Amino acid sequence: MRKLEGKTVLITGGSSGIGLATARLFIAGGARLAITGRDPDRLTAAQQQLGDAAVTIASEAGCLNDIETLLTRVKQHYDKLDVLFLNAGIAEPTPLEMTTEEQFDNIMRVNFKGVFFTIQKALPLLNPGASIIVTTSITNRSGTPNFSIYAASKAALRSLVQSLALTLIEHGIRVNAINPGPIDTEGFNRLPLPGEVFQAIKNDIEARSPIKRFGAPDEVAKVALFLACEDSAYVVGEEIVVDGGMTLVCLP
Ligand SMILES: NC(=O)c1ccc[n+]([C@@H]2O[C@H](COP(=O)([O-])OP(=O)(O)OC[C@H]3O[C@@H](n4cnc5c(N)ncnc54)[C@H](OP(=O)(O)O)[C@@H]3O)[C@@H](O)[C@H]2O)c1
Repeated sequence: MRKLEGKTVLITGGSSGIGLATARLFIAGGARLAITGRDPDRLTAAQQQLGDAAVTIASEAGCLNDIETLLTRVKQHYDKLDVLFLNAGIAEPTPLEMTTEEQFDNIMRVNFKGVFFTIQKALPLLNPGASIIVTTSITNRSGTPNFSIYAASKAALRSLVQSLALTLIEHGIRVNAINPGPIDTEGFNRLPLPGEVFQAIKNDIEARSPIKRFGAPDEVAKVALFLACEDSAYVVGEEIVVDGGMTLVCLP
């Protein structure tokens, strides 16, 4: 059964990784969608993969002007939205002694501020019964010393999801989050770390993971499909962990 037949969807950060895997699955489920990203080559490659059921729109997730332009274009294409998947995010190391104000502001602007204002500005487009899904991270529940700003931005999202779930449920709109553990995406593999440090981190994650591997983007996309469709009609303000059991061993 095609669970998103006739539904319209906006996925921010849909040109790569979790967002692109979700776009493929949603189209297979009957949806038409708009996806965003920044890199033009990745957007073009995504458009080729997704075909006519998708439009790709270059849009900076942390910029209010871009958000307004994006939603104007989405309205022109689809008029209304049934699913808003706020997935664009950036992760970079921010060791305490070395982090600049610019890095701090950039991470919070893309990962947190952009999500709040995209939801705010998308409200007039959302159909009754719409589903909003936000991508957080298991770092929002555990100490993550070298990624403290990233983790804090995702913790802010967890709180935002709970508050906005209460704000919007009276309009028939559900807000939930997906909370991924280590997922083998292009973005993860581009983390700005020296090669040997990066490989040591990957090996450590696999060794500590109860399931002994990274997750695949498709495994997160299936949870996004659940939250997007009627199957999750009674799930409100929840954050679903998709991490192969990692939080069981990470949390204090
Ligand atoms: N992979 C993991 O292990 C993991 C774990 C927990 C949470 N997450 C979260 O999952 C989400 C997706 O990450 P991913 O691993 O799938 O990464 P990815 O492969 O790099 O995909 C990220 C997507 O977001 C877009 N994006 C990034 N910054 C943007 C910005 N400022 N404005 C607009 N678009 C932007 C990227 O487009 P461009 O490439 O064009 O910038 C791309 O489409 C993120 O929110 C991330 O924090 C990932």
